[in-house]
Amino acid sequence: MMSFLPIAQLFTAPSDQEVEARGWIYRARSSGAIVFLVLRDATGIIQVTVKKGNLPDREFEAAHGITVESSVTVKGRLHEDRRAPGGREMRASGFEVVGAAQVFPITQHQSEELLLDHRHLWVRSREQTAVMKVKAAAMAGARSWLEENDFTEVTPPILTTNACEGGTTLFKLKYFDRDAYLSQSAQMYLEALLFSLERVYSITPSFRAEKSRTTRHLTEYWHLELEEAWVDYRGNMEIQEQMVTAMIESVLAGAKDELLLLRKDIEPLKAIAPPFKRMTYAQAVDKLRGLSYEISWGCDLGAPEERALTAEETVPVFVTNYPKECKAFYMKEDEDDPRTYACADLLAPAGFGEIIGGSERETDLGKLIARMQEQGIAMGPYEWYLDLRRYGSVPHSGFGLGVERVVKFVCGLEHIRDAIPFPRTVSRVYP
Ligand code: 4AD
Ligand code: MG
Repeated sequence: MMSFLPIAQLFTAPSDQEVEARGWIYRARSSGAIVFLVLRDATGIIQVTVKKGNLPDREFEAAHGITVESSVTVKGRLHEDRRAPGGREMRASGFEVVGAAQVFPITQHQSEELLLDHRHLWVRSREQTAVMKVKAAAMAGARSWLEENDFTEVTPPILTTNACEGGTTLFKLKYFDRDAYLSQSAQMYLEALLFSLERVYSITPSFRAEKSRTTRHLTEYWHLELEEAWVDYRGNMEIQEQMVTAMIESVLAGAKDELLLLRKDIEPLKAIAPPFKRMTYAQAVDKLRGLSYEISWGCDLGAPEERALTAEETVPVFVTNYPKECKAFYMKEDEDDPRTYACADLLAPAGFGEIIGGSERETDLGKLIARMQEQGIAMGPYEWYLDLRRYGSVPHSGFGLGVERVVKFVCGLEHIRDAIPFPRTVSRVYP
């Protein structure tokens, strides 16, 4: 019995030998006694020609009437053909239908809405497949860098009772007879775990109930978060630039063809290497004012400001030392500039904007409590977090990277929803 070869291998297999492949019909066109098919599997596509007389009539008729997205098996010989994609085609001597497809609802040039309604089918497209491979390569690159650098992967909870990033963007749910929330960030749990493991990371979904209809917000996204004992906010940035570079290198090494399918130019990605650029929030404000942005000290930077700041950049940019009023209470006050936190956001170049938010963490129990009181944050749900400052606290830092933000940047996508197979946004939770 013959075994099925992945389509990618058909381009290196000896061309005189009979092979068998299986997959889905990507394209189909008939002209009389010849049927031209393109077969797709997880590894690629190949042209298949089916000629009447080269296989049993019943099988030819099946190929003749085949619909796009039907699943099939094909037997045949490989031939060099410069007109075929990849320079080879398969000439069929056998054709079997596994699962016939009804008329596929997605054809070329569909509206974005139709594609989103049929996401369960659109995920088969070559673009979506390429994005998923890029994402997998980026995550694998992060994981191997983290393992090499002594980080332990941990599994924090998704159901929580406390807000990490403020109460306004929490999804609330009934937890038996109590209220609970879907996690916005694993950070506080990672902080608890660094007291035994020192360097920890997690990859979890995070949930944000913000009603932002933008090209960079999802309500459910994948969050890669790290927490590092004995590291200050400068060390935190060094970890970020190394890990992000490792992610991009992994994509270039493992998913280059997919990148080429998605984006015109991969040269800018090759140029990304440590050290990334650093500027303070104050410098960013000066630069923005120079570009005629009206911005006053204390305002958080939005998408337009981030775009303006990074439009001309070729490497990512850290913006450090944000004013306290625009960041979360758990950040460490900067000793050299107490109006600010020892924090940094990492902005991707060429106008992409924030991909990471991070900081050194406040270890001073008194300062934490005072800030929470000032901001009217109820202490109850955070008692366990405050305990972490009561029992052998150490300087530490951490950050959260939005995986889809990185994928959007690396693939050059217009919209973040294309960086996740089943996007959840303000207007969409189906399919
Ligand atoms: O800046 P954020 O809100 O920071 C935190 O949650 C920290 N507690 C993380 C930490 O230090 N462990 O979120 C971190 C990152 C952002 O930089 C962005 O990349 C991504 O998460 N992010 C989103 N991605 C998609 N859709 C959204 N609605 C996002 N909100 C944040
Ligand atoms: Mg942020």
